Amino acid sequence: MKTIGLCDSGIGGLLVLFALHKAYPKLNMTFLADQSHVPYGDKTHEQLKGYAVDLFDEFRRRNIQDVVIACNTLCANVLEEVRNDYSDLNLIGIIAPTVAQLRQIRAQKVLVLATKKTVEKHAYRKAIHEMMPEVIVEEIACPKLVPLIEGHADPKELRQAVYEYIEGKEFDACILGCTHFPLISEYIHEQKQVPIFDSNQAVIDLLKDEKIEGEGKIEIFTTHDAQTMQQVIQRLFGETIQVQEISLK
Ligand code: DGL
Repeated sequence: MKTIGLCDSGIGGLLVLFALHKAYPKLNMTFLADQSHVPYGDKTHEQLKGYAVDLFDEFRRRNIQDVVIACNTLCANVLEEVRNDYSDLNLIGIIAPTVAQLRQIRAQKVLVLATKKTVEKHAYRKAIHEMMPEVIVEEIACPKLVPLIEGHADPKELRQAVYEYIEGKEFDACILGCTHFPLISEYIHEQKQVPIFDSNQAVIDLLKDEKIEGEGKIEIFTTHDAQTMQQVIQRLFGETIQVQEISLK
C-alpha cells in the first residue's frame, strides 16, 4: 500500500491521520477535510450523500483507491448506499472495526457516544449486537461536542458538556462513535475508569498486515480555512504541515 486516502468533516480525520502516521511513519496519506460543512452530525440524508459523493469523486480524480472513511456519520448513513457506484475504490468503513475492539474485554453494558445522525441509525447498536448479542448498548447523541471541538472551545466548556451527557449513566465500557471524540476521552475517564475505545486504534489494526511502501508523505486539504487547520495541527500534534484549500465539485 503506497497512499491511503482519509476523509471526514474535520478534526476527527486529523486524529485518525496522526494516529496512523505514528503507527506507520512510511505511509503516504491524503486527507480531505470538509470543514465548510461541519458538523455533519445534524445534516440531512441527502446532504450527507452529496458530501460523500464529492469526497469520493475527489479521491477518484486523484487516483487514490484505498480510502478510509474516517467519519462515523458517513459510514452510518450513506457509505453502503453509494458503495456500488465506487467499485473502483476500496472504501473502508470504521464502525465494525471500532466495535471489534470490544472483543478484548467482557463488557456487559456499553455506552456509545456519537453524533445525532449516527445514533438515529443505531449503527453502533446493530454492529455490537451482530458480534455480541448479549451486550446492553446505550447510544447517546452528543450534538454539542463537534461544534465545540471545531470551535476550539475552552476545555472547561467541553468538559461540562461531556459531564452532562454521561451524568448518571451506568456502563463498563465506552465507545467513541465519532472520530472527533478522542479529544474528550480524558473527561470521561475523570468520571468513570472504564475502557474507552475509539476509531484510531481500529484503523491502525486494520492496516497491520499491509505492506507499507511510501515515504511518509502527508497531504491535507480543507474546504474551509487552511490557516486555521494548520494552527490546529501545530497545537494538537506539534507539527508544521502545509494545508491547502480545496473546493469539491
Ligand atoms: N467526525 C465525524 C464522525 O465521526 C463527523 C462529526 C460531525 O461533523 O458531526 O461522525
